[in-house]
Amino acid sequence: MQIADFELERFFARYEFAVRHLLCASDVEGWSMADLLALADEETRHLWEGLTLGYTEAPGHPLLRAEIASLYETLAADDVLTFSGAEEAIFTAANVLLRPGDHAIVTWPAYQSLHEVARATGADVTLHELHASEGWAIDVDRLRASVTPRTRLIVVNAPHNPTGMLPDAATWTAVSDIAADAGAVLFADEVYRFLERDAGARLTAGADLGAHGVSLGVMSKSFSMAGLRIGWLASRDRAFLDACARFKDYLTICSSAPSEILALTALRARDRVLGRARDIVDGNLALVDALFERQAAHLRWVRPAGGPIGFPELVADVPIETFAQNLLEAEGVLLAPGPLFGHPGNHFRLGFGRLGMAEGLERLEAYVERTLG
Ligand SMILES: Cc1ncc(COP(=O)(O)O)c(C=O)c1O
Repeated sequence: MQIADFELERFFARYEFAVRHLLCASDVEGWSMADLLALADEETRHLWEGLTLGYTEAPGHPLLRAEIASLYETLAADDVLTFSGAEEAIFTAANVLLRPGDHAIVTWPAYQSLHEVARATGADVTLHELHASEGWAIDVDRLRASVTPRTRLIVVNAPHNPTGMLPDAATWTAVSDIAADAGAVLFADEVYRFLERDAGARLTAGADLGAHGVSLGVMSKSFSMAGLRIGWLASRDRAFLDACARFKDYLTICSSAPSEILALTALRARDRVLGRARDIVDGNLALVDALFERQAAHLRWVRPAGGPIGFPELVADVPIETFAQNLLEAEGVLLAPGPLFGHPGNHFRLGFGRLGMAEGLERLEAYVERTLG
């Protein structure tokens, strides 16, 4: 298999744990073990204390799969298969669904594996480009026109990385219909689900749309526990999940035993877990809103409708990569320049899910004032 480097992950491998102010992370501040274990109910505490570190059940712990299924309207535990993070699930789904000569459509800019793994299978990939001038919205007519008789897969990530875009309900229904009419799978990357600004705007999960829908979920983002490395695919297409299970036998085989129980504990206390994430994101967003208002001449964005990230534009003659590099050297602040997503504009990813963001924003603002006036 030939696959291009994952530019954003290479960037994070270099900088993530070395910079003082990480203003481009896509996750939410992780939980401490002590705080999480304090949420355990009697059963999960018992499971945790009696845990042995053997292999675990390949599809995922039955209680965990049942708890994940309860995040959806129409699913049972057997409609869920766990993975090591969302990343392994993306790799598996693309390899199971696509063959050379097949066609996939992926909304873009995107988390790179969503299109790169599809391409590495030998499939032809059409990027459905989102534009800031259109509020990063999906263009339903353009999407429909890009379907071919070979289209097997349509990938939409919402709330979206890196823009925070969330389709409205009518658009989402139209996207679902386009996939169903084409006989294609709608792969809904929902790793930022539950972090919508307006809970009423939350989309019907992909897997609840019908057997052509697949939902991708993970503990890393809205549930603020990236270190668990627990993700999942949910789908009512049992043959698809079975094929994924067979593929996973060549990857991690089964999930980490401690992570399964910790994920179960967190999902059972999901109101607390999601409430904390929303509080962090809302607090940071208020700071970012104020900054963007003060620096409107230099920074503008389509305010994200969901998730802990957005894709603002630097309005200046300086290329974003140069600006970001100089900012890092001068202030220890890390932004993720749009070209890491292959995006040609002057955008950058801003993450607002971590604690302690105020100082990083102050340094960013001081640098903007010093260098752009
Ligand atoms: C849209 C999207 N999907 C999938 C993933 C992968 O998640 P994980 O790192 O937990 O495997 C990410 C991570 O940033 C993401 O942003």
